Amino acid sequence: MTDRYAVIGNPIEHSKSPFIHQAFAGQTGEALTYGRILGDPEDFAGSVRDFLARGGKGLNVTVPFKEEAWRLADELTSRARVAGAVNTLVLQPDGNLLGDNTDGVGLVRDLVQNHGFDFRGKRVLLLGAGGASRGVVRPLLEQHPALLVIANRTAEKARALADELRDEGVEVKGCGLDELPGMQFDLIINGTAAGLKGQVPHIPDDCLAPGGWVYDMMYASEPTAFVRWGQAHGAEKALDGLGMLVEQAAESFRLWRGVKPETREIIDALRSDQQR
Ligand code: ATR
Repeated sequence: MTDRYAVIGNPIEHSKSPFIHQAFAGQTGEALTYGRILGDPEDFAGSVRDFLARGGKGLNVTVPFKEEAWRLADELTSRARVAGAVNTLVLQPDGNLLGDNTDGVGLVRDLVQNHGFDFRGKRVLLLGAGGASRGVVRPLLEQHPALLVIANRTAEKARALADELRDEGVEVKGCGLDELPGMQFDLIINGTAAGLKGQVPHIPDDCLAPGGWVYDMMYASEPTAFVRWGQAHGAEKALDGLGMLVEQAAESFRLWRGVKPETREIIDALRSDQQR
């Protein structure tokens, strides 16, 4: 039987993951199918069990099930543990489910490999302290920036997240958005949900250093509100999260199949599709 994979979420019909993983499979010659599952909000574990009983080997997990997947996994990678959320489940030979979070690696690869960003010596601001931000903090610190500030509308949540990251060998500070005046950053990453309402978090106009970059973890067919903020505030590059989406998928594919697919062509295909 051909190995089966799928993305599970609710809603799920607009997910680009089937397109991405089928393209990876074609490119690498891996024999697999990849579908979409509308997860049962009342019984996520049951939806996962059904899929595994039908020969499923791995799942991508998306909104609103990432935290439930974290609780369901029998084992967690260290980056998934800090994230408190799992976006990739891998059925292991012993029948255990391994939970990983590939979002942070996806973000870092898009910035570093696709766009040439060098974290060393850089001051990085991460906006938001919810699931999206938690998912990326560990891989960000592994890049050894000079400083990581996590700023959130609710300061307490940012402080608590920063406290969990004290031992990573990088200066990490958690604060409220209202504590940002006077600070400047070389990279500002938006992990807030403000963009869902077309909004931008309230940050000072001058908090992006000259030559600084902005990165929005969200993407849309139009430039996102935060990408537009970057463009209006002199960002050298203002990127959305499409590259991150494809890179996190590539890392999931590698975990499942042991083969790392090429991402460039697929990012370009999605980008041109988006602009049509
Ligand atoms: P997710 O899992 O998508 O990150 P979440 O856990 O609900 O979702 O977190 C949403 C994040 O976006 C939070 O950091 C939230 O700030 P609060 O903790 O203060 O609620 C942030 N956020 C949402 N709307 C925002 C807005 N309009 N301005 C600034 N931050 C916003």
